[in-house]
Amino acid sequence: MSSGAHTVGVIRGDGTGPEVVGEALKVLGTLDVEVELVEFDLGAERYLRTGEALPNGELERLRTMDAVLLGAVGDPRVRPGILERDLLLRIRFELDQYVNLRPIVRYPGVETLVPTHTEDDVNLVVVRENSEGLYTGAGGFHRKGTPHEVAVQESINTRHGVERIVRYAFELAMRPERRRKLALVHKTNVLTFAGDLYQRVVDEVGAGFPDVERDYVHVDAACIYLLDQPSRFDVIVTDNMFGDIITDLGAMIQGGMGIAAGGNINPAGMSMFEPIGGTAPDHAGKATINPLAAVGALQMLLAQLGESAAAARVTAGIRFACSKLHSMRAGQMGFSTGEVGDLVVEGASA
Ligand code: IPM
Ligand code: MN
Repeated sequence: MSSGAHTVGVIRGDGTGPEVVGEALKVLGTLDVEVELVEFDLGAERYLRTGEALPNGELERLRTMDAVLLGAVGDPRVRPGILERDLLLRIRFELDQYVNLRPIVRYPGVETLVPTHTEDDVNLVVVRENSEGLYTGAGGFHRKGTPHEVAVQESINTRHGVERIVRYAFELAMRPERRRKLALVHKTNVLTFAGDLYQRVVDEVGAGFPDVERDYVHVDAACIYLLDQPSRFDVIVTDNMFGDIITDLGAMIQGGMGIAAGGNINPAGMSMFEPIGGTAPDHAGKATINPLAAVGALQMLLAQLGESAAAARVTAGIRFACSKLHSMRAGQMGFSTGEVGDLVVEGASA
Protein backbone atom coordinates (compact mmCIF):
# COMPACT_ATOMS: atom_id res chain seq x y z
CA MET A 1 0.00 0.00 0.00
CA SER A 2 1.44 3.36 -0.93
CA SER A 3 1.38 6.11 1.66
CA GLY A 4 -1.39 8.01 -0.11
CA ALA A 5 -3.88 5.15 -0.13
CA HIS A 6 -6.98 5.02 2.02
CA THR A 7 -7.85 1.81 3.79
CA VAL A 8 -11.58 1.23 3.38
CA GLY A 9 -13.36 -1.57 5.20
CA VAL A 10 -16.20 -3.29 3.38
CA ILE A 11 -19.07 -5.01 5.18
CA ARG A 12 -21.24 -6.39 2.40
CA GLY A 13 -23.68 -7.87 4.89
CA ASP A 14 -27.00 -9.55 4.23
CA GLY A 15 -29.90 -9.56 1.77
CA THR A 16 -29.27 -7.09 -1.04
CA GLY A 17 -26.23 -5.65 0.79
CA PRO A 18 -23.65 -7.54 -1.30
CA GLU A 19 -25.34 -6.57 -4.59
CA VAL A 20 -25.49 -2.86 -3.89
CA VAL A 21 -22.00 -2.74 -2.39
CA GLY A 22 -20.78 -4.54 -5.52
CA GLU A 23 -22.13 -1.70 -7.67
CA ALA A 24 -20.64 0.98 -5.42
CA LEU A 25 -17.25 -0.74 -5.63
CA LYS A 26 -17.61 -1.02 -9.39
CA VAL A 27 -17.98 2.77 -9.47
CA LEU A 28 -15.08 3.23 -7.05
CA GLY A 29 -12.85 1.12 -9.28
CA THR A 30 -13.25 3.62 -12.12
CA LEU A 31 -12.21 6.64 -10.06
CA ASP A 32 -8.80 8.17 -9.72
CA VAL A 33 -8.32 7.48 -6.04
CA GLU A 34 -6.00 5.11 -4.24
CA VAL A 35 -7.95 2.77 -2.00
CA GLU A 36 -7.09 -0.50 -0.36
CA LEU A 37 -10.23 -2.51 0.36
CA VAL A 38 -10.41 -4.69 3.46
CA GLU A 39 -13.26 -7.20 3.58
CA PHE A 40 -15.12 -7.92 6.82
CA ASP A 41 -17.16 -11.08 7.06
CA LEU A 42 -19.93 -9.75 9.31
CA GLY A 43 -23.68 -10.24 9.23
CA ALA A 44 -26.15 -13.09 9.48
CA GLU A 45 -23.94 -15.81 7.95
CA ARG A 46 -21.15 -15.18 10.40
CA TYR A 47 -23.57 -15.02 13.30
CA LEU A 48 -25.30 -18.27 12.34
CA ARG A 49 -21.91 -19.95 11.88
CA THR A 50 -20.23 -18.74 15.06
CA GLY A 51 -22.90 -17.30 17.34
CA GLU A 52 -21.08 -13.98 17.43
CA ALA A 53 -22.45 -10.83 15.78
CA LEU A 54 -19.31 -8.76 16.24
CA PRO A 55 -16.26 -10.36 17.82
CA ASN A 56 -14.06 -7.88 19.69
CA GLY A 57 -11.17 -8.53 17.33
CA GLU A 58 -13.29 -7.45 14.37
CA LEU A 59 -14.33 -4.29 16.17
CA GLU A 60 -10.67 -3.46 16.79
CA ARG A 61 -9.84 -4.17 13.14
CA LEU A 62 -12.69 -1.86 12.07
CA ARG A 63 -11.24 0.86 14.26
CA THR A 64 -8.04 0.86 12.21
CA MET A 65 -9.82 1.59 8.91
CA ASP A 66 -9.94 5.08 7.38
CA ALA A 67 -13.65 4.53 6.64
CA VAL A 68 -16.13 1.69 6.18
CA LEU A 69 -18.76 0.99 3.54
CA LEU A 70 -21.65 -1.11 4.83
CA GLY A 71 -24.32 -2.82 2.73
CA ALA A 72 -27.03 -3.82 5.18
CA VAL A 73 -27.45 -6.29 8.00
CA GLY A 74 -30.45 -8.36 9.06
CA ASP A 75 -31.82 -11.73 8.04
CA PRO A 76 -35.10 -13.56 8.62
CA ARG A 77 -33.13 -16.51 10.07
CA VAL A 78 -31.84 -14.36 12.93
CA ARG A 79 -34.10 -13.20 15.73
CA PRO A 80 -34.98 -9.51 15.10
CA GLY A 81 -32.84 -7.12 17.08
CA ILE A 82 -29.69 -9.20 17.40
CA LEU A 83 -27.81 -7.99 14.35
CA GLU A 84 -29.32 -4.53 14.65
CA ARG A 85 -28.19 -4.11 18.23
CA ASP A 86 -25.08 -6.28 18.52
CA LEU A 87 -23.61 -5.41 15.15
CA LEU A 88 -24.88 -2.14 13.69
CA LEU A 89 -25.64 -0.18 16.86
CA ARG A 90 -22.56 -1.63 18.58
CA ILE A 91 -20.30 -0.31 15.83
CA ARG A 92 -21.97 3.11 15.97
CA PHE A 93 -21.66 3.31 19.75
CA GLU A 94 -18.24 1.73 20.31
CA LEU A 95 -16.62 3.76 17.56
CA ASP A 96 -18.42 6.84 18.85
CA GLN A 97 -19.99 7.63 15.48
CA TYR A 98 -22.16 10.19 17.15
CA VAL A 99 -23.45 11.90 14.01
CA ASN A 100 -25.90 10.14 11.76
CA LEU A 101 -25.80 12.38 8.72
CA ARG A 102 -28.66 11.87 6.31
CA PRO A 103 -28.86 14.21 3.33
CA ILE A 104 -32.29 14.40 1.74
CA VAL A 105 -31.71 15.48 -1.84
CA ARG A 106 -33.80 15.03 -4.89
CA TYR A 107 -31.82 14.22 -8.03
CA PRO A 108 -33.07 15.38 -11.43
CA GLY A 109 -35.73 13.17 -12.95
CA VAL A 110 -36.48 11.20 -9.81
CA GLU A 111 -40.18 10.81 -9.22
CA THR A 112 -41.66 10.75 -5.72
CA LEU A 113 -45.06 10.17 -4.20
CA VAL A 114 -45.57 13.90 -3.68
CA PRO A 115 -46.59 15.50 -6.97
CA THR A 116 -46.66 19.01 -5.50
CA HIS A 117 -42.92 19.04 -4.79
CA THR A 118 -40.60 20.57 -7.33
CA GLU A 119 -37.14 19.03 -7.57
CA ASP A 120 -35.65 22.05 -5.87
CA ASP A 121 -38.00 21.90 -2.91
CA VAL A 122 -36.24 18.93 -1.38
CA ASN A 123 -32.72 19.75 -0.27
CA LEU A 124 -31.98 19.31 3.39
CA VAL A 125 -29.78 17.36 5.77
CA VAL A 126 -30.88 15.59 8.91
CA VAL A 127 -28.26 15.50 11.66
CA ARG A 128 -29.47 12.65 13.83
CA GLU A 129 -27.89 12.12 17.23
CA ASN A 130 -26.43 8.61 16.93
CA SER A 131 -24.94 7.66 20.29
CA GLU A 132 -27.60 8.08 22.95
CA GLY A 133 -31.32 8.83 23.35
CA LEU A 134 -33.64 5.83 23.43
CA TYR A 135 -31.15 3.60 21.60
CA THR A 136 -28.61 2.92 24.36
CA GLY A 137 -30.53 -0.05 25.71
CA ALA A 138 -30.98 1.54 29.14
CA GLY A 139 -34.03 0.30 31.01
CA GLY A 140 -35.43 -3.04 31.95
CA PHE A 141 -38.31 -5.17 33.00
CA HIS A 142 -39.91 -5.52 36.38
CA ARG A 143 -42.25 -8.44 37.12
CA LYS A 144 -41.78 -9.64 33.55
CA GLY A 145 -44.47 -11.95 32.25
CA THR A 146 -46.95 -11.07 34.99
CA PRO A 147 -50.07 -8.92 34.68
CA HIS A 148 -48.14 -6.28 36.63
CA GLU A 149 -45.21 -6.18 34.26
CA VAL A 150 -43.31 -2.92 33.98
CA ALA A 151 -41.15 -2.16 30.95
CA VAL A 152 -38.94 0.91 31.17
CA GLN A 153 -37.03 2.23 28.16
CA GLU A 154 -34.94 5.19 29.12
CA SER A 155 -33.89 8.08 26.91
CA ILE A 156 -30.35 9.09 27.81
CA ASN A 157 -29.44 12.66 26.89
CA THR A 158 -26.14 14.01 28.11
CA ARG A 159 -25.01 17.60 28.01
CA HIS A 160 -21.84 16.43 26.25
CA GLY A 161 -23.77 14.38 23.71
CA VAL A 162 -26.34 17.05 22.94
CA GLU A 163 -23.76 19.80 22.73
CA ARG A 164 -21.52 17.98 20.25
CA ILE A 165 -24.36 17.05 17.90
CA VAL A 166 -25.82 20.55 18.00
CA ARG A 167 -22.40 22.09 17.35
CA TYR A 168 -21.87 19.74 14.41
CA ALA A 169 -25.22 20.83 12.97
CA PHE A 170 -24.44 24.54 13.29
CA GLU A 171 -21.06 24.06 11.64
CA LEU A 172 -22.74 22.17 8.83
CA ALA A 173 -25.29 24.97 8.39
CA MET A 174 -22.38 27.39 7.82
CA ARG A 175 -20.82 25.38 4.99
CA PRO A 176 -20.99 27.05 1.58
CA GLU A 177 -23.40 24.50 0.13
CA ARG A 178 -25.97 25.09 2.88
CA ARG A 179 -28.46 27.90 3.47
CA ARG A 180 -27.60 28.80 7.08
CA LYS A 181 -30.86 27.61 8.60
CA LEU A 182 -31.05 25.20 11.48
CA ALA A 183 -34.21 23.65 12.86
CA LEU A 184 -34.32 21.74 16.10
CA VAL A 185 -36.89 18.97 15.74
CA HIS A 186 -38.08 17.53 19.03
CA LYS A 187 -41.17 17.29 21.20
CA THR A 188 -40.43 19.89 23.85
CA ASN A 189 -44.08 20.29 24.77
CA VAL A 190 -44.18 16.75 26.16
CA LEU A 191 -40.56 15.60 26.58
CA THR A 192 -39.93 18.45 28.96
CA PHE A 193 -36.55 17.23 30.25
CA ALA A 194 -34.76 16.00 27.15
CA GLY A 195 -36.43 18.63 24.99
CA ASP A 196 -35.49 21.37 27.40
CA LEU A 197 -31.85 20.33 27.33
CA TYR A 198 -31.83 20.29 23.52
CA GLN A 199 -33.50 23.70 23.29
CA ARG A 200 -31.15 25.31 25.81
CA VAL A 201 -28.11 23.88 24.03
CA VAL A 202 -29.38 25.07 20.64
CA ASP A 203 -29.84 28.57 22.06
CA GLU A 204 -26.45 28.63 23.76
CA VAL A 205 -24.43 27.14 20.91
CA GLY A 206 -26.49 29.15 18.41
CA ALA A 207 -25.38 32.39 20.04
CA GLY A 208 -21.93 31.62 18.62
CA PHE A 209 -23.40 31.27 15.11
CA PRO A 210 -25.24 34.58 14.63
CA ASP A 211 -25.49 34.03 10.87
CA VAL A 212 -27.51 30.85 11.25
CA GLU A 213 -31.25 31.37 11.45
CA ARG A 214 -32.78 29.18 14.16
CA ASP A 215 -36.12 27.42 14.03
CA TYR A 216 -37.90 24.95 16.28
CA VAL A 217 -40.45 22.41 14.99
CA HIS A 218 -42.23 19.68 16.93
CA VAL A 219 -41.52 16.29 15.40
CA ASP A 220 -45.15 15.61 14.50
CA ALA A 221 -45.40 18.97 12.76
CA ALA A 222 -42.08 18.28 11.04
CA CYS A 223 -43.76 15.31 9.33
CA ILE A 224 -46.37 17.68 7.95
CA TYR A 225 -43.78 20.20 6.76
CA LEU A 226 -41.63 17.52 5.10
CA LEU A 227 -44.63 16.87 2.88
CA ASP A 228 -46.20 20.29 2.70
CA GLN A 229 -43.25 22.66 2.71
CA PRO A 230 -39.90 20.83 2.68
CA SER A 231 -38.03 23.92 1.49
CA ARG A 232 -38.53 25.25 5.01
CA PHE A 233 -35.70 22.94 6.09
CA ASP A 234 -31.98 23.26 5.48
CA VAL A 235 -30.29 21.54 8.44
CA ILE A 236 -32.39 19.61 10.96
CA VAL A 237 -30.87 18.53 14.25
CA THR A 238 -32.75 15.95 16.26
CA ASP A 239 -32.41 13.07 18.68
CA ASN A 240 -31.77 9.44 17.82
CA MET A 241 -35.32 8.14 17.55
CA PHE A 242 -36.94 11.17 15.95
CA GLY A 243 -34.07 11.18 13.47
CA ASP A 244 -34.61 7.51 12.70
CA ILE A 245 -38.27 8.07 11.95
CA ILE A 246 -38.19 11.31 10.01
CA THR A 247 -35.37 10.11 7.77
CA ASP A 248 -37.57 7.30 6.44
CA LEU A 249 -40.10 9.97 5.52
CA GLY A 250 -37.19 11.97 4.14
CA ALA A 251 -36.14 9.03 1.98
CA MET A 252 -39.62 8.88 0.49
CA ILE A 253 -39.63 12.55 -0.50
CA GLN A 254 -36.27 12.12 -2.21
CA GLY A 255 -37.50 9.18 -4.24
CA GLY A 256 -37.52 6.14 -1.99
CA MET A 257 -35.32 3.95 0.17
CA GLY A 258 -33.38 2.90 -2.91
CA ILE A 259 -31.78 6.29 -3.15
CA ALA A 260 -31.26 7.41 0.47
CA ALA A 261 -27.72 7.29 1.86
CA GLY A 262 -26.31 8.12 5.24
CA GLY A 263 -23.12 8.32 7.23
CA ASN A 264 -22.35 7.32 10.79
CA ILE A 265 -19.71 9.89 11.52
CA ASN A 266 -17.06 10.22 14.16
CA PRO A 267 -15.48 13.53 13.17
CA ALA A 268 -12.29 12.59 15.04
CA GLY A 269 -12.26 8.89 14.21
CA MET A 270 -13.59 6.28 11.85
CA SER A 271 -16.85 6.81 9.97
CA MET A 272 -19.12 4.27 8.32
CA PHE A 273 -21.41 4.90 5.36
CA GLU A 274 -24.48 2.94 4.36
CA PRO A 275 -27.60 2.93 2.24
CA ILE A 276 -30.30 3.53 4.83
CA GLY A 277 -32.82 1.14 3.34
CA GLY A 278 -31.92 -2.19 4.93
CA THR A 279 -31.56 -5.66 3.44
CA ALA A 280 -34.74 -5.71 1.24
CA PRO A 281 -34.99 -9.54 1.34
CA ASP A 282 -37.72 -9.54 -1.34
CA HIS A 283 -35.20 -8.21 -3.84
CA ALA A 284 -32.20 -10.28 -2.78
CA GLY A 285 -30.49 -12.14 -5.59
CA LYS A 286 -32.82 -10.82 -8.29
CA ALA A 287 -30.77 -7.84 -9.50
CA THR A 288 -33.86 -5.67 -8.98
CA ILE A 289 -32.55 -3.53 -6.13
CA ASN A 290 -31.64 0.08 -6.76
CA PRO A 291 -27.93 0.50 -5.99
CA LEU A 292 -28.00 4.32 -5.98
CA ALA A 293 -28.27 4.54 -2.19
CA ALA A 294 -25.06 2.54 -1.82
CA VAL A 295 -23.42 4.67 -4.50
CA GLY A 296 -24.58 7.74 -2.54
CA ALA A 297 -22.96 6.23 0.56
CA LEU A 298 -19.72 5.87 -1.43
CA GLN A 299 -20.02 9.54 -2.43
CA MET A 300 -20.28 10.55 1.22
CA LEU A 301 -17.37 8.28 2.16
CA LEU A 302 -15.12 9.86 -0.46
CA ALA A 303 -16.09 13.35 0.70
CA GLN A 304 -15.27 12.39 4.29
CA LEU A 305 -11.84 11.10 3.19
CA GLY A 306 -11.16 14.48 1.58
CA GLU A 307 -11.40 13.05 -1.96
CA SER A 308 -13.67 15.85 -3.13
CA ALA A 309 -12.94 15.48 -6.85
CA ALA A 310 -13.79 11.78 -6.77
CA ALA A 311 -16.90 12.51 -4.68
CA ALA A 312 -18.01 15.10 -7.23
CA ARG A 313 -17.61 12.53 -10.01
CA VAL A 314 -19.84 10.11 -8.15
CA THR A 315 -22.47 12.81 -7.70
CA ALA A 316 -22.29 13.51 -11.43
CA GLY A 317 -22.70 9.78 -12.05
CA ILE A 318 -25.77 9.55 -9.82
CA ARG A 319 -27.35 12.58 -11.47
CA PHE A 320 -26.64 11.18 -14.91
CA ALA A 321 -28.12 7.79 -13.97
CA CYS A 322 -31.24 9.44 -12.54
CA SER A 323 -31.93 11.56 -15.58
CA LYS A 324 -31.20 8.63 -17.93
CA LEU A 325 -33.55 6.36 -15.97
CA HIS A 326 -36.20 9.04 -16.13
CA SER A 327 -36.03 9.54 -19.87
CA MET A 328 -35.93 5.79 -20.54
CA ARG A 329 -38.62 4.84 -18.06
CA ALA A 330 -41.72 5.16 -20.23
CA GLY A 331 -42.86 1.73 -21.36
CA GLN A 332 -39.90 -0.04 -19.81
CA MET A 333 -39.79 -2.86 -17.34
CA GLY A 334 -37.16 -1.17 -15.22
CA PHE A 335 -33.45 -1.62 -14.94
CA SER A 336 -31.26 -4.21 -13.38
CA THR A 337 -28.98 -3.35 -10.48
CA GLY A 338 -25.95 -3.72 -12.72
CA GLU A 339 -27.37 -1.51 -15.47
CA VAL A 340 -27.92 1.32 -13.00
CA GLY A 341 -24.34 0.91 -11.77
CA ASP A 342 -23.13 1.08 -15.38
CA LEU A 343 -25.04 4.34 -15.90
CA VAL A 344 -23.34 5.82 -12.84
CA VAL A 345 -19.95 4.77 -14.20
CA GLU A 346 -20.80 6.36 -17.54
CA GLY A 347 -21.90 9.62 -15.93
CA ALA A 348 -18.95 9.72 -13.55
CA SER A 349 -16.47 9.44 -16.38
CA ALA A 350 -18.00 12.13 -18.57
C1 IPM B 1 -31.48 2.92 10.61
C2 IPM B 1 -32.06 1.64 11.07
C3 IPM B 1 -31.42 1.27 12.38
C4 IPM B 1 -31.69 2.41 13.36
C5 IPM B 1 -31.86 -0.07 12.95
C6 IPM B 1 -31.61 -1.20 11.97
C7 IPM B 1 -31.20 -0.37 14.28
O1 IPM B 1 -33.45 1.73 11.19
O2 IPM B 1 -30.26 2.97 10.36
O3 IPM B 1 -32.22 3.91 10.48
O4 IPM B 1 -32.72 2.43 13.99
O5 IPM B 1 -30.83 3.26 13.47
MN1 MN C 1 -34.23 3.59 10.42
